[in-house]
Amino acid sequence: VARGFCLAASLLALGGCSGIQSALDPAGDEAASVARLFWVMAAAGTLIWAAVVGTLVYATRRRRRVYSEHAAGLLVLWGGALVPALLLALLLGHALWLMPNIRPWSEPAERAGLRIEVNGEQFWWRVRYHLADGPPVDSANEVRLPVGERVEFTLTSSDVIHSFWIPVLGGKMDMIPGRANRLTLKAAKAGTYRGPCTEFCGTSHALMAFSVVVMEPDDFRAWLADQAETSPGVEASGQDVFIASGCPACHTVAGTEAVGTVGPDLSHLGSRETLAAGILPVSTETIASFISDPDVIKPGSQMPPFRMLPEADIAAIAAWLEGLE
Ligand code: CUA
Repeated sequence: VARGFCLAASLLALGGCSGIQSALDPAGDEAASVARLFWVMAAAGTLIWAAVVGTLVYATRRRRRVYSEHAAGLLVLWGGALVPALLLALLLGHALWLMPNIRPWSEPAERAGLRIEVNGEQFWWRVRYHLADGPPVDSANEVRLPVGERVEFTLTSSDVIHSFWIPVLGGKMDMIPGRANRLTLKAAKAGTYRGPCTEFCGTSHALMAFSVVVMEPDDFRAWLADQAETSPGVEASGQDVFIASGCPACHTVAGTEAVGTVGPDLSHLGSRETLAAGILPVSTETIASFISDPDVIKPGSQMPPFRMLPEADIAAIAAWLEGLE
């Protein structure tokens, strides 16, 4: 009864697994194969469990006669060896057959023109788009992809091991200091999704996420062209305060003298889905609160708190950054 209850409870819990961060609600080819593998294994496991429990109940409650030595031997041979071996071989065969879909490997020649480099940091994501033509485009804490095109990711880390996972698109891949791991993903459905860091990397591991925006190919190219431009922002006074307050030591804002590389590139912060690696919406208020209290909002973050700055200065910087689209 307890096991049955557990099963019912986990099925109910799984029913909640839909939406922007669920491997069971796939929006890409690899994730669809992962979801299929899960359902087939879960269904087969349930059937096998039911058969074993049924046999157990039959043997302990219903059957009163003792088996002959010959019949018992046959039961052990079939029930204990042949049938399990056959079932496991079938399930293994199915999993092996799905493997090329789950982690497709394409030859360099047939790779798409787009390669996205993602580097794990404490606790955010450095993102760089490498195009077949043109200079690379830098961003942070957000990955945008064209729908229907296979995109190659190069995954690295500069501090500890992080893990990159977009559950709706495919399996996860670790980001390991000193090596570059390669992952390819193909999105099948436009939308906005979410990816978490899936390797414990320190105090704010649970606060390390990123948004994933899958766009129509034309929209994607237009967005990328926009990202390559520099936008002056609306509140120019905030730019002076930003420069004067020392922010350029860590941050880059394209088109200004800020070229720091320690922290996230802020060039188009206003156009991003989230602030502080997937934990806050982008607004002047959230930007201001992160400037003043990053140690509270994201413990362990490398960003020092700037609550000693006058409130008006923080507000000016936030207004300027929010206007950078
Ligand atoms: Cu980065 Cu966990």
